[in-house]
Amino acid sequence: MRSFLAFIALLAISSAIPVNVMMPLNTIQTDGSLNPNINLQDKLQKLKSGGVNGVMLDVWWGIVERNGPRQYDFSGYTMFADMCSKIGLKVQVVMSFHQCGGNVGDDCNIPIPGWVRNVGSDIFYRDREGHNDVEYLSLSMDHQQRWSGRTALDMYHDMMAAFRQAMGSRMGSVVTEVQVGLGPCGELRYPGYQLDRWSFPGVGEFQCYDPTMLNMLESAANNSGHAEWGHGGPGDAGSYNSKPGDTGFFRSGGSWSTPYGDFFLSWYSDALVQHASDVLAQAKSAFQGTGVKLAGKVAGIHWWFLSESHAAELTAGYYNTRSRSGYNKIVKAFKEAGAIIDFTCFEMRDTEQPSSAQCGPYELVGQTLWEAKNVGIGYAAENALPRYDDTAYATILDNSVRQMKIDAFTYLRLTDDLIYNGDNWSRFANFVGKMAAQ
Ligand SMILES: *[C@@H]1O[C@H](CO)[C@@H](O)[C@H](O)[C@H]1NC(C)=O
Ligand SMILES: *[C@@H]1O[C@H](CO)[C@@H](O)[C@H](O)[C@H]1NC(C)=O
Repeated sequence: MRSFLAFIALLAISSAIPVNVMMPLNTIQTDGSLNPNINLQDKLQKLKSGGVNGVMLDVWWGIVERNGPRQYDFSGYTMFADMCSKIGLKVQVVMSFHQCGGNVGDDCNIPIPGWVRNVGSDIFYRDREGHNDVEYLSLSMDHQQRWSGRTALDMYHDMMAAFRQAMGSRMGSVVTEVQVGLGPCGELRYPGYQLDRWSFPGVGEFQCYDPTMLNMLESAANNSGHAEWGHGGPGDAGSYNSKPGDTGFFRSGGSWSTPYGDFFLSWYSDALVQHASDVLAQAKSAFQGTGVKLAGKVAGIHWWFLSESHAAELTAGYYNTRSRSGYNKIVKAFKEAGAIIDFTCFEMRDTEQPSSAQCGPYELVGQTLWEAKNVGIGYAAENALPRYDDTAYATILDNSVRQMKIDAFTYLRLTDDLIYNGDNWSRFANFVGKMAAQ
């Protein structure tokens, strides 16, 4: 009887979906220290009491390597991990090689390190108008030795290896997962929809105009036997705030569906997948043997999903259209690297979006779940925007068991509103309980 009960208990534990909570952006201050003014101990204990499994924290490049090349300071992070360990919470870290500030929900300003930025203006993603996006280094820098002999990939590797060393035995015990930053917001994507020039639901713009990327494009065009395709991106793709139907490229039956369109979109999206493989390989080598799980994040670009060309996904680098899966190659690359996929917008319903934007968060989540299941990799999920209501929690629950049970859910984000407001907290704790009962 006792062993039978133990067996039942084990079943219950093994089938629960753990819920983690994302930490505030100002948890670690810009001088590298743990923020003493946000009641951390108190809040973490409350999370633990509500059945939360762990917390997710950004490790900002602009903080930990702010003093100069390879002069790392992880002191605030080790203190944070020790605090969580004492309380009994796991820590998931994000290797945040991007800038904090300028995106949805960013109430912070942490640029990438000055000594990285200062080597030239040609190291960032650039749009057709010649505007640089300074959030994240262009993938074209992955193999360029621009930093005293180091490439971008070398710098990513060195930071991750230093983090592992600083964390020591906390790796694998307290720090259980590393989400590897692969682009703006940590997401594997181009900065196709920059908030200082884009507004919802514009199609965004292709970001392939930095000199090194233009050269890569020219070389790919030469190899394809169509040298004439190598002179920059499509000229008929409109601008950030165009609607698909207003452009020759994205409209139904537009140039996206021609052999030229296929060449360009394949090249643009393949470069992004290669970038994921290259950065994840650095992470694999840096964290080998620690037992931490690796993850890569894909953005939930749901606007125009129900149209033919999926314009917004295309400019972000996902060659996903009504007739072609753009997420298949991505999940395969993640699998190859031993990483799980982290996907977002789990709280959104199609009916909550303006119909004119042809949004399909439900269908998009469904497609990514299917791709991950089909290829056989783990799937972790997040909500995209802060929500405290039961409708959002019910939608997350539905999505979490829709095609397969997801591995974990990370709630965005820890705020005073969540912890200190009776109703908000009890609704959240109730949700955590329901996820545990799945
Ligand atoms: C592409 O081909 C043209 C014409 O042959 C040549 O001038 C150019 O250097 C080539 N570009 C690259 C990047 O290989
Ligand atoms: C919960 O949080 C939201 C968002 O900050 C806030 O508007 C609301 O007043 C809070 N309290 C309740 C009881 O919903």
